[in-house]
Amino acid sequence: MIALINWLETRTGFKALIHEAFNERVPGGARWRYVWGSTLVFTFTLQVITGFMLWAAYSPSTRTAWESVYYIQHEMFLGNIIRGLHHYAAQGMVVLMAIHLIQVIIDGAYKAPREMNFWLGIVLMMIVLGLSLTGYLLPWDQKGYYATQVTTNIMSATPGVGREVQILAQGGSDYGHLTLTRFFAMHAGILPTLLVGFLALHIYVFRRHGLTVHDPNRAPETTFWPDQVLKDSVACLAVLAVVLLLAIFRGAEMSAPADPSVKFDAARPEWYFLFLFRFLKFHAVDALGVTFGAIIVPGIIMGIIAMMPITAKVFGGFGHQLNRAFIWALSLGVVVLTVMAFYEDANNKDHQAALTEAHRDGQRAIELASGPDKIPVEGAVSLLRKDPFTQGPRLFEQNCSGCHRYNGHDGRGSLVTEAGKTELDPPVTGSPTAADLGSFGSREWMTAIVMDYSNHFAWMKNSKWFLDAQAKSAAGETVDYINPDSSEMADWTSGNLESLKSAENADNVKALVEFLAAEAGHVGTTYDSALVEKGRELAIKGEWAGALNGTSCASCHDTIGQDFPSNPDDSTAGSYPTLAKYGSAAWLKDFIRHPDAARHYGAKNQMVSYSPEKLSEENLDLLVRWLTHDYTTSTVPDYADQMDVLKSALTQGTSAAPEPAPEK
Ligand code: HEC
Ligand code: HEC
Repeated sequence: MIALINWLETRTGFKALIHEAFNERVPGGARWRYVWGSTLVFTFTLQVITGFMLWAAYSPSTRTAWESVYYIQHEMFLGNIIRGLHHYAAQGMVVLMAIHLIQVIIDGAYKAPREMNFWLGIVLMMIVLGLSLTGYLLPWDQKGYYATQVTTNIMSATPGVGREVQILAQGGSDYGHLTLTRFFAMHAGILPTLLVGFLALHIYVFRRHGLTVHDPNRAPETTFWPDQVLKDSVACLAVLAVVLLLAIFRGAEMSAPADPSVKFDAARPEWYFLFLFRFLKFHAVDALGVTFGAIIVPGIIMGIIAMMPITAKVFGGFGHQLNRAFIWALSLGVVVLTVMAFYEDANNKDHQAALTEAHRDGQRAIELASGPDKIPVEGAVSLLRKDPFTQGPRLFEQNCSGCHRYNGHDGRGSLVTEAGKTELDPPVTGSPTAADLGSFGSREWMTAIVMDYSNHFAWMKNSKWFLDAQAKSAAGETVDYINPDSSEMADWTSGNLESLKSAENADNVKALVEFLAAEAGHVGTTYDSALVEKGRELAIKGEWAGALNGTSCASCHDTIGQDFPSNPDDSTAGSYPTLAKYGSAAWLKDFIRHPDAARHYGAKNQMVSYSPEKLSEENLDLLVRWLTHDYTTSTVPDYADQMDVLKSALTQGTSAAPEPAPEK
């Protein structure tokens, strides 16, 4: 062993190197305030190690980036820990860098003859920020995709070269495959190489001038080994512990695969850039433009920091005090702006809703990717694009929430609001003007039709067309319109209510409801076939007990119990709404396309007809599959029921007056 060491020593002189490294003088004794530089070298080393591990599984292309990160996160052995470490250590580096900078300025370590090293440090800081910026995009998820776009757009605001730099960085005028390969080349190649180079210089120059000691007479001089090494090691271990705990207990989130066609309202930069983001939102700053807020002001601030050694030289002690005051003020400003940004986001309902949805999409994408179908060859974007559970709510919100609601909300969990009466009034909760489709086709829905028809469809009475029709009919005109309070259907249910509620018909009602729900046949519900058969008999033959006996649904709805015809236009349905497989996917598709057909509401219809130009075949299918629960079940919770919130908003008079008649 000794022979080997000697052999090495004579050929490399490594002992001297080590000796020199460990015997660095530490005047005034080892101190905790000197540990920041070491922790930075340590976290960077951690980034290199975990970075290589991630690289071994990562594949930079628009069709494989998310997919490979999914693999790392959910299938690779310890992959989630490695990714978590890389994720949090990156943030740790930014924090440690800020502390290191503040400490250097406060201790005056930037002053002559250490200017050069101070500037090297600033270059290192830029490189680290560049690393975290480029890294954010690599998972190619919605969060990184949209947040990075904000940044590259800001970049393009640089006077003169901005647009060219942007095009160069993103590999074209838009985001695409080349954006990813270029960002990856920067993240894993160019920037780390630069970092290593500048770090070597930084450490070399640092060694030349040694530590800047605050007060050398505080304690007797020691050497780097062992006192300072111990403190440095403890600090590094503490950093590792924090990062590891975060990686294990919080993990790095992954949002849904990047999809340029899906707006992402929850986009925010990484939290340590939030202060800048908030700064740009000030009216005054906003009015002066992005170039001012995001390029000129930060440029001036960086300029002032870079000038600090010169300021201190020119103005002496006063200059140093000035620099200290500046860095304190800047830190305070950053903290205040960051807190403001967090606070405002937490109290912004729209942002919170967007966050919830982003989280939901992310979870769902991961759920589908790990499901039996895995990730399709077209890539993970299509997972959500083809998923009724994800697309249904969106299509509903876009197309249907103007009149209908879904458990009180717009399909995506928010109440529908409308502008107040005057421009100055705050927005108010809008009244639905058609049935709430949250329970459509379920037993609950069918029970309400049979036992509570008027109430069930009462939302329609909020509409302008209803009020108009009622006024006309009061004036003696004959108008064909749907009246939940008085129609053959309403009369049938209210006229028979007592008998329907009687004990002797309890089982019959149950059977009828079972039959109706089974006709809708929504996925995931099982029906009692004996009850269904009994209900079918009742619906068609009307063999009820007591006063109800002889009244069948089929006496008006003559198609009840039949299959939904493949060509509905040829059907022999009479003038009553067809109940052939009422509530099923086939019925729904036909209804949404032609609510005004004679087999549905005919002349009474008030709903929009959704032609294929309005709602493509594909989207109709997604919407209907969502309404009939025809999708892989999810552990992602559904949007919370908002019916009570809606009702209380409406009764408190914060609701809107009936809206004008919708265009057909
Ligand atoms: C302009 C308002 C309006 C819009 C928009 C609208 N509907 Fe309707 N919807 C109605 C009205 C009113 C009725 C009552 C029957 C009629 O007028 O045809 C109705 C009835 C229904 C029914 C039948 C409920 C039942 O059992 O009687 C379903 C299902 C339905 N709509 C689904 C949808 C879907 C899905 C969308 C979006 C693609 C949608 N509606 C868009 C107003 C609307
Ligand atoms: C006396 C005739 C009559 C009888 C009996 C009748 N209905 Fe109706 N039903 C109607 C009419 C008319 C409508 C259209 C609603 C309107 O004009 O208000 C309707 C509407 C409906 C609708 C909404 C259809 C749609 O397209 O959205 C359902 C569901 C329904 N009836 C179920 C039943 C069931 C179940 C029974 C038997 C328990 C029944 N009806 C008995 C006349 C009747």
